[in-house]
Amino acid sequence: MSALPKVELHLHLEGAAPPSFIAGLAKEKNLDISGIFDARGQYRFTDFSHFLKVYEAATSALQTPEDYARLTRTVLEESAQSGVVYSETFLSPDFCGGREVGAWREYLHAMREAADQAERQMGITLRGIVTCIRHFGPEKARETALCAAETAGDWIVGFGIAGDERIGAPKDFRWAFDCAREAGLRLTAHAGEWGGPDSVRAAVRDLGVERIGHGVRAIEDLALVDELAEKGIVLEVCPGSNVALGLYRSFRDHPIHELDRRGVKVTVSTDDPPFFHTTMAREYEELHRALDWDEGQFRRIARQSLDAAFCDADTRARIGKLLEV
Ligand code: ADE
Ligand code: ZN
Repeated sequence: MSALPKVELHLHLEGAAPPSFIAGLAKEKNLDISGIFDARGQYRFTDFSHFLKVYEAATSALQTPEDYARLTRTVLEESAQSGVVYSETFLSPDFCGGREVGAWREYLHAMREAADQAERQMGITLRGIVTCIRHFGPEKARETALCAAETAGDWIVGFGIAGDERIGAPKDFRWAFDCAREAGLRLTAHAGEWGGPDSVRAAVRDLGVERIGHGVRAIEDLALVDELAEKGIVLEVCPGSNVALGLYRSFRDHPIHELDRRGVKVTVSTDDPPFFHTTMAREYEELHRALDWDEGQFRRIARQSLDAAFCDADTRARIGKLLEV
């Protein structure tokens, strides 16, 4: 499965940090975050709320642009090994310079240099989606959107929202999304993971997003499923993440196949791979094992993902050739 060329649209850069990488940084900085690891050195959490706390504690070890350059390199190496040729990655001004535009530019420069080098050496392309964090509130989201707008271009191509979907409502973030849209950024929002169909409806209606992060709980309302299919809204589905966080018992119980069968544009991503003990190759293996997806299906999904990517036309055409091998 690692040989098949893959397109990933939903990956949190901090969430892709291997625990050994974070532990190493913490040691360098004399930071005690040992409570986030289990006896085998893996991330340890009990549920989604706890996951968010562990995630933020892990992120506290990432303190400089150089740390982010090293992280970018490490994450792209892992993705390339899984056969990923294009990765759209969530980047967070909240963690990179505290939403201050000047500092954010320095972090961005470091990440971009690392990504450019990885592209030359490993043939993997990264594009960034600036993300705000729902449980940090609308005020911080505005500052994040301003960072996004200031740096929008051929590398920062999108804007999104992650974090705890159970807090606040999409309409609270309308200003941030309008600001990003006006700067030319394409839009996505996490919804339909910890919220039900109404949460997905609200993200589409109030934020005008063209993609939804997860969105899988749309399956609980077939009228919404039809609407998503009709509107061509793309779901960034992360099956292994959903299973690891207890949303579904197994890949076999996961609705990705049914959503696809009903005409919704689904894609496959890892979300926060080391937290959920997954990789893109692993997602493909599990989907093959549980749902009998074959090479033809995976190639169709990769093409569908590339069509939904926020990159420019030249990049899409270049990556498209890589999907044909
Ligand atoms: N941030 C990182 N992973 C997330 C997830 N699965 N849901 C919401 N916010 C996140
Ligand atoms: Zn996510």
